[in-house]
Amino acid sequence: MFELDHHPSGRHFLQIPGPSPVPDRILRAMSLPTIDHRGPEFGALGLKILAGLQQVFKTRHPVVVYPSSGTGAWEAALVNALSPGDAVLMVETGHFATLWQKMARRLGLAPEFLSLPGTDAATGLPNAWRHGVRAELIEQRLRADAGHAIKAVCVVHNETSTGATSDIAAVRRAIDAAGHPALLMVDTISGLACTDYRHDEWGVDVTVSGSQKGLMLPPGISFNALSPRALAAAKTARLPRSYWAWDEIVEANRGGYWPYTPNTNLLYGLHESLEMLLGEGLEAVFARHRRWATGVRSAVRAWGLPIQCADRACESPVLTGVVTPDDVDADALRGLIHRRFDLSLGTGLGKVKGRMFRIGHLGDCNDLTLLATLAGCEMGLRLAGVALKDSGVQAAMAHFAATPAGG
Ligand SMILES: Cc1ncc(COP(=O)(O)O)c(C=O)c1O
Repeated sequence: MFELDHHPSGRHFLQIPGPSPVPDRILRAMSLPTIDHRGPEFGALGLKILAGLQQVFKTRHPVVVYPSSGTGAWEAALVNALSPGDAVLMVETGHFATLWQKMARRLGLAPEFLSLPGTDAATGLPNAWRHGVRAELIEQRLRADAGHAIKAVCVVHNETSTGATSDIAAVRRAIDAAGHPALLMVDTISGLACTDYRHDEWGVDVTVSGSQKGLMLPPGISFNALSPRALAAAKTARLPRSYWAWDEIVEANRGGYWPYTPNTNLLYGLHESLEMLLGEGLEAVFARHRRWATGVRSAVRAWGLPIQCADRACESPVLTGVVTPDDVDADALRGLIHRRFDLSLGTGLGKVKGRMFRIGHLGDCNDLTLLATLAGCEMGLRLAGVALKDSGVQAAMAHFAATPAGG
């Protein structure tokens, strides 16, 4: 299904919402020889990386780096801070929130999954998968938990399966308004370094993230940013942990080292990524993502197709979910677009499989790569027989031309 129908030439368009394209600068940095991970050169690199990460997470506290995909960092967050049978409040925003909730259950926790009921009349898709986190529902639930049985609230900041970005500051306010001591754990695997994120200011206890999205690295590094409360909770938490244990890592990190062999070459890449992002300035990085997202959404609206995220206030700067008409299998459409135009788009996951596709607009993109992506989508939609209201490419061109980058 996914083979090209012609000999490939030029570059492949990887426009899934992560892994995002890896810039040449980072690829070159990763190609340097692997060094002794216990030697002085490595310690200096480690310290520089850990300091740079604190700037990206906007925290003064430790950021733990794991040689794993993001799923490992989900597990690390739960096993370090919680005990068997603990109640955790999670929110169904889409596929990734669902997977984190399943993991909590498998680890012997007792997750409660808050969910918007019903389906959307226009698309037939679940309401919960078209919106972000409703902080007022969290507040309501925590107020009812007078005995403080709930030990953590876990939410996904940027739900990569739907394209909804939730207001984490509002979640913190909700927890505080309820006067509840639960820890706040946030997955910003696809939000970090694309859209604003403030670990300390928003009072997040554990932030989970990964390398292959806004940081523009290959998959294989993940993160837990911690708060003093999270570190204190880890001292008494009783879920078994060893490889993921924060204490030994935080201790070794004081000298820029890890208690085990870290993935040295990915850390070279991370060092380069931090130089790039902090050199550009995080605010500029966020503005560039917002501008791209507005351009891509103007294209989808011109086509006349529904955007998966039904709430404008939550539309993601990282990706856009496009709902296909009932009789068009979104995965068949993605296959067609890949075969004909060498463009990879994100698949619909879980409850929206076959009903939507996702356009990634994150990391190492520019106006023209996004216009080419939209052109591939537009040609594919027409070839699949979808009646489009207007040209999305024209709409996005008008947007990009009218709003100079960095302006
Ligand atoms: C929001 C979110 N959470 C968790 C994950 C899982 O991370 P990984 O696939 O790196 O294990 C992903 C992956 O795309 C994600 O987007």
